Formats: sequence, structure tokens, C-alpha cells
Amino acid sequence: MDTQISYILAIESSCDDTSCAILKNDRVLSNVVAGQEIHEKYGGVVPELASRAHQSNIVPVVDQALKQAGIVKDDLTAIAFTRGPGLMGSLLVGSSFAKSLSLALNIPLIDVHHMHGHILAHFINEDQKIPDFPFLGVTISGGHTQIVKVTDYHEMEVIGTTQDDAIGEAFDKSGKMLGLGYPAGPQIDKLAQEGDPRKFPFPVPKAPDLNYSFSGFKTAVLYFIQREVKKNSDFVKENLKDICASIQYTLIKILFQKVEKAVKQTGIKSVAIGGGVSANSGIRGQLLSYETKGWNVFIPPFQYTTDNAAMIGISGYFKYLEGNFSGMEVTASPRIEM
Ligand code: KG4
Ligand code: ZN
Repeated sequence: MDTQISYILAIESSCDDTSCAILKNDRVLSNVVAGQEIHEKYGGVVPELASRAHQSNIVPVVDQALKQAGIVKDDLTAIAFTRGPGLMGSLLVGSSFAKSLSLALNIPLIDVHHMHGHILAHFINEDQKIPDFPFLGVTISGGHTQIVKVTDYHEMEVIGTTQDDAIGEAFDKSGKMLGLGYPAGPQIDKLAQEGDPRKFPFPVPKAPDLNYSFSGFKTAVLYFIQREVKKNSDFVKENLKDICASIQYTLIKILFQKVEKAVKQTGIKSVAIGGGVSANSGIRGQLLSYETKGWNVFIPPFQYTTDNAAMIGISGYFKYLEGNFSGMEVTASPRIEM
């Protein structure tokens, strides 16, 4: 086999999606994601149920990824996996599987930071434009809200982060108050498209420097709904689209206030968003509008925004090129730093 060509099998299992991808160098051959519907009825991810579902999903997901890629296990060059952050039980399923596979095939093991994955997803080669270093990575998901200064594939510095909830949680918890199912983010996005974003003004919380805070916003939404429902029990039903549009409008404002500040402070005008919440149409539209101000903006294809193994595979590929491998002693780490 050509030694310039690597086939990396990557596993992502940090939260509630079991995913396996195969990459041929920087191109994705397959990217299989098995979601877990079990959590919907609980209105959020139940860690114990997540790890059990990962256990039953992982073998079929890996099999399918290999089949779709048209290769067999013996063709593989290395195994990459998400080391953290995430849910301990979920990470353990992916990391144990990855270690066993690397041991059985006698090929290198590569551990990947989940948040590096969200940022490096922009480098998955689909012949699109890719960011030049340095750039600002804005990672927005159900677990994180970060502004990251990215100077190299392996050098990333968090320059702003949330002090409480993540922006995805702000979407999901507000949606829950409105009676929307989990995850509510995509539903708010859809309903907001037909609503008036300025109908109900919500406060923009104050957080120091480039940091975020969403807990005050969440409380404001709760009090607002309680107050209005007391006056009119059909308030939510009658105003759902306008409430969703107003919530989304405010969350976008909170998000970009700090992104603008980061651009000003660092002088870096390349901004790449990633993470599940970057699927939001309002956020995408707002980011694109900054191009008129001379920013260079990057939005990954939808399938690489939410949790997926392809982003772990591309991060693994860059570590592979450097010979940066992990030993068998590497452990799943629910709270590792960037
Ligand atoms: O990255 P991700 O799949 O998982 C985490 O690592 O958290 O992100 C999931 C989050 C959820 O909070 C979900 O509501 C949010 O992404 N989300 C959205 C949209 N699509 C997914 N939020 C707002 N608008 C969307 N279109
Ligand atoms: Zn994620």
C-alpha cells in the first residue's frame, strides 16, 4: 500500500451520538452517526442510558462505516478517538473500543480533544475554502460556548468561554419552557423564521471580557412566560413564533457581541463557527453579514457541525502526520482542557 496514503478510523462517543468515520488522508470516505432517541422523553441526555446505547451501537456503526468506505479493517493505518470532554460512561465506550482495535490491528492510537474536532472540521477536504492561521474558532454546542484563538492545527487558546450554561442549553431550556421537545434548538430556529424578532425584548446579560453568561437570560425567559401566561393562559400558543424569533434574536446578539469584541481585540478577522448550534440559520446569516465588514467567515457543512466522527478523524490525521500517538495508558477524560 502507498505509504503516503493513510486510512484513519475515528470514533466519537462523547455525548449521545455514536459515530464512526473513515478518512483517506483529509477526505471523508464514510461518516456514520447513530443518534439516541431514548433521551427525547426525558427532555435531556441521561448519561447512564447514553453509555448503554453506545455499547449496543458501536459495533454496527463501525461495521457500517467500513462497509460504506469500501475498505476492510486490515487496510486501516491508525485509530483516532475522542478522549474528552464529555460524559465519562460514553467516552469509556469509545476509548475502550478504539484501544482494543488499535491493539488487535497493531496500528497507532490517536487521542483527540472533542473541541479541537469541532474546530478542525473546517479542514475536512471537500474542495471548499479553508481558514488560514490564525483564525478565531467560535464553538457553540449543547455543552460549550467558546471563542478560541487558533494559531495552528495543534495550538489553540480559549480566549472566551461561558461561565454557566452553553448557548445550546439556552436554546433547549427556553424551548422546554415553551413546551417544545428536546433538543429544542432546531425547532426554535424553524419557528423563528416566521416570527417577529423584535416583538419581545429580552435582556442581554453582562459577562466580563470575552466571556459569556446565559443563566440570567434563561431566568428572564422563564419569568416573562410565567407573567404573560398569568394574564392569558393561551399566550404561548398565540405567540409561539414571535417568542421563538425574539429568543433567537437575543441569543444571536449575545453571541456576536463578544465575537465582535474578540475580532477587535485580536485583530483577527477570520472567523470559523462550529458545533451543533452553528446549524442555526439566524447565526449563519448573521455571520455571513460580517463579510461586508471585511471578515472572512467559515461555516462547515451541516453534517460536520453536530457531533460526528469525521471531525475526530481530521484532527487525528493532523496528529498522525506529526507522529503524535497515544500509549495504551491514555484514559477517557470528561473534563480535559484545550
Ligand atoms: O454539537 P452538538 O451536536 O452536541 C454537543 O456537543 O452539545 O450540539 C447540540 C446542540 C443542542 O443544544 C441543539 O439544540 C443545538 O445544538 N442545535 C441548534 C440547532 N441545531 C442544533 N440550536 C439552534 N438552532 C439549530 N438549528
Ligand atoms: Zn460537540
